[in-house]
Amino acid sequence: MEYVKSKIRDVYDFPKAGVIFRDLTTMFKDPRAMHIVGWDLAQLYRAKGVTKVVGIESRGFIGGSILAYEIGAGFVPARKPGKLPADTVSAKFEKEYGFDEIEIHRDAITPDDVVVIHDDLLATGGTMAACYELVKKMNPRKVYINFIVELSALNGRENLPADAEVTSLIVY
Ligand code: PRP
Ligand code: ADE
Repeated sequence: MEYVKSKIRDVYDFPKAGVIFRDLTTMFKDPRAMHIVGWDLAQLYRAKGVTKVVGIESRGFIGGSILAYEIGAGFVPARKPGKLPADTVSAKFEKEYGFDEIEIHRDAITPDDVVVIHDDLLATGGTMAACYELVKKMNPRKVYINFIVELSALNGRENLPADAEVTSLIVY
């Protein structure tokens, strides 16, 4: 994982003053880093009977798709408002640098599903907490939470449900 971490670029004061933006695009463009991330994500969830991976727009689509493919699960996009064409459930939330809203299709998850919600990065946890709440509305058998990167200084885990099983590959 040190190799993968070394490929993440720090950008100061983006998108606003005081934020250190952990830029994963420099990691995603590196074939070896992508291979390691894909393998390690799959190892975490291979034996858990996962049927659906929910990826959070937009950076969560990248690792989420790889994870779904590797473990033979389906992929469900959690999207910004107004993008999904059919009936949706939605939640508003606060994150590190603003407010946002997230939606998923109401029929995307069913009670027989075992779900991993994946995002590239945990900051305040606002995004993931909102998405978890949406997924739970569909009463799946189990919901796991996963990130590639966790920013521990922002205490995002405290905003996630206490009973959720959370994994991250890299912690700052
Ligand atoms: C980033 C990141 C997470 C979220 C984490 O997404 O990809 O989804 O912020 O922040 P939080 O833990 O404070 O909620 P962003 O909303 O910037 O959108 P993007 O993926 O489209 O770049
Ligand atoms: N999303 C929210 N906070 C972030 C940060 N500091 N770096 C990268 N993505 C983020």
